[in-house]
Amino acid sequence: MRVTVTGTGYVGTVTGACLAYLGHRVTCVDTDAHKIAVLQQGGMPLYEPYLQEVVEIVRQNGLLDFTTEIAAAVAESDVIFIAVGTPPRPSGEANLTFLEAVARSIGAAMDTSRFRVVVNKSTVPVGSGNLVGALVREGICESRPGQEKRIAFAVASNPEFLREGCALADSLYPDRIVIGTEEGRSMQVLRELYSPLIEQKFPAPEFLPRPKEMREVPLVTTTLTSAEMIKYASNAFLATKIGFANEVANICERVGADSKEVMAGIGLDKRIGSGFLNAGIGWGGSCFGKDISSLLHTARDYGYQARLLEASLEVNRAQRHVVIQKLLEKLFILKGRTIALLGLAFKPDTDDLRDAPSLQIAERLLQMGARIKAYDPVAMDACREQHPELKMQYCHSALDAVTDADAFVLVTEWEEFRTANLHQLALRMAQPVLVDGRNIFDPETAREAGFDYTGIGRREKVTKKAVPVEAAGTT
Ligand SMILES: NC(=O)c1ccc[n+]([C@@H]2O[C@H](COP(=O)([O-])OP(=O)(O)OC[C@H]3O[C@@H](n4cnc5c(N)ncnc54)[C@H](O)[C@@H]3O)[C@@H](O)[C@H]2O)c1
Repeated sequence: MRVTVTGTGYVGTVTGACLAYLGHRVTCVDTDAHKIAVLQQGGMPLYEPYLQEVVEIVRQNGLLDFTTEIAAAVAESDVIFIAVGTPPRPSGEANLTFLEAVARSIGAAMDTSRFRVVVNKSTVPVGSGNLVGALVREGICESRPGQEKRIAFAVASNPEFLREGCALADSLYPDRIVIGTEEGRSMQVLRELYSPLIEQKFPAPEFLPRPKEMREVPLVTTTLTSAEMIKYASNAFLATKIGFANEVANICERVGADSKEVMAGIGLDKRIGSGFLNAGIGWGGSCFGKDISSLLHTARDYGYQARLLEASLEVNRAQRHVVIQKLLEKLFILKGRTIALLGLAFKPDTDDLRDAPSLQIAERLLQMGARIKAYDPVAMDACREQHPELKMQYCHSALDAVTDADAFVLVTEWEEFRTANLHQLALRMAQPVLVDGRNIFDPETAREAGFDYTGIGRREKVTKKAVPVEAAGTT
């Protein structure tokens, strides 16, 4: 099928590359001329494992191209995806400026030559499907007055659930595909578009083998509104689950329980599940905070106060400050101290810094007079460019960052940190204080390596010496 994807960010580029990999002919469109130029020249403006490899394969097969010209792409397409950003406004409401602009441009490019489906993949508040329909129609009226009735299109919602860092695997082997539409023909078109994915009838890339347990992908068909709600409700649930783990970890710390042991114990309950129960310094990224805020805003519009979701945001906000508290407990004074921050990206395997906990932690440490030495395997250039206000010393390696530092804070759980030689790191520090913000190190191993270790909700294992029977009996 002929497909246009608008927006070449994390979602759009991955979607375009994967649809082309399934055999469709895809054009990715963006208004950012620099991004498009980089992509046209075979470069990759964002960091996502295996994306470059898949893009190279499909470009060689002539199935994917990149352009800033939306009109020609839409004119030739059966399906047009909207994957532009929907960032939050200060009020929490989603900013739909990009969505509105692109919907109008799509309408303006439509003609009578075929039936087209406009698919909303951006995360948008309930009702946005209707808004997109109205704006596409406006675009048509402006560019082809009098022909509106003869130009056939429908709008569908197809929320995206990929996780940055493993976006390609999530897109080729998804848990489910959700399609919301109230129009029969568009469901048929999208069913056909996704049939290789649903039936898993495509050769798996050798670098991304199909999981052994992978069967047919469930297709969830719903109304437009339900599909829009599914996306928000999924993110709200996941964020709340992490918040729950953090809340329990904070209590564990006070009562002397170990949160890892507690989470392992509760995660085995099939009704709960073990995913997203890792205590730490909280979630970040471009989606959870923005999507919960947007859902809260929608609920308020309808006269409902979603208290659980409000609390979920608040718990996460507070969790980021736990690191500062722990540093104060260990060092007492932060003014003039050197703190090494290991990891800046909001999660491993991405260069995305949107709402990353590292930023707030760094800001607070600088306010308190600390000096920061930072290291991240891929996100340092992005941080330098996007956050010039954070006056940190960027380092070449973890070892370089911890050298002469008074404490080291593990912020992002990159694999290279998990496997670091802790003994070597501890030896380089002025004071070997380690605040493990993601609980990736074994406390005993870290202590044996010479660190004064503290995690989130972790407890030092105390092995009681067995009391000899005779001695026990004498009292
Ligand atoms: N990033 C994720 O992990 C993720 C996961 C699921 C859903 N989503 C949702 O998907 C959407 C896109 O997210 P993203 O992270 O890819 O955003 P992004 O900011 O990385 O990319 C958005 C792109 O849209 C482009 N754009 C803006 N206006 C345009 C226009 N009129 N025409 C063409 N392109 C235009 C921008 O230049 C940018 O390149 C958001 O609604 C987000 O909430 C994101």
